[in-house]
Amino acid sequence: MSIDRAIEQQIINFTRVMPALPQTANGIMNICNSRFVDARHLYKLICVDPLLFCQTQALFTIYYPKLNTIYNSIAKIMIMLNVNTVKNHIMPFAEKTKDALAAKSINKKTLEYQSCFWRHAVATGITARFIAKERGIDPAQFELYYAAGLVHDLGKYFQVEGTSHSELGGLVAKTAGLYEGLLDVILHHHDVAKSKGTNADLVCTAALADYFVNSSLSAQQKTGSKATLGKEVWQRLSVSPEFLEKHKQMLVSEIKKCDAYIKVEN
Ligand SMILES: [Fe+2]
Ligand SMILES: [Fe+2]
Repeated sequence: MSIDRAIEQQIINFTRVMPALPQTANGIMNICNSRFVDARHLYKLICVDPLLFCQTQALFTIYYPKLNTIYNSIAKIMIMLNVNTVKNHIMPFAEKTKDALAAKSINKKTLEYQSCFWRHAVATGITARFIAKERGIDPAQFELYYAAGLVHDLGKYFQVEGTSHSELGGLVAKTAGLYEGLLDVILHHHDVAKSKGTNADLVCTAALADYFVNSSLSAQQKTGSKATLGKEVWQRLSVSPEFLEKHKQMLVSEIKKCDAYIKVEN
């Protein structure tokens, strides 16, 4: 399956102006309009919005085109570029969504879909980070594992009939200049055998987190995808199906904390 040329161009153009999700837009604007921008709060909100995460990465590639394959940390990007540069870049994307919400121009069905998209992304990110932690992955990599879960279904935002969300997400990731490990996650989380050597662990972790969220958590975090997972993922990660079930309550409460945080910010 490949993406039609006209759709491909539309997605590329849209990626450059992709707005914030309704869940984060008001919070982002509150922070950006305050006298002193709170870098920690801005960072937290960017990290729970897969679209703003991509926009921040895209900004980074403008300033450091040669570093884009090794950078994936929003915290580091904010330090290197300065919080005001990041703020000025993402503000128009949040403003667009805030205005659309105020004008009630996003219909109820779209809002519900985006809410589901958002919850699934965050729940998968939190679960992927937890798996990395439990498996003794270097803590410096936790943010990358979280990002893998956050962006794995990026292509589902677009809902283009007859095209795979992996391909659509891959196109967005390439346009935004996302780290190639994250690109691999987006392209191969439903077919882990295709992931490249060093990225296989990251791809398998995102696939397991996705499977767990779709099979074990409440309907709010699910995307409707059938929950299946190949044997190779369990083997590669050396974990058993009971492993995550044992920690289900803890993961549910972590996801709820994030939900509460967003509500406070908005
Ligand atoms: Fe998916
Ligand atoms: Fe998913």
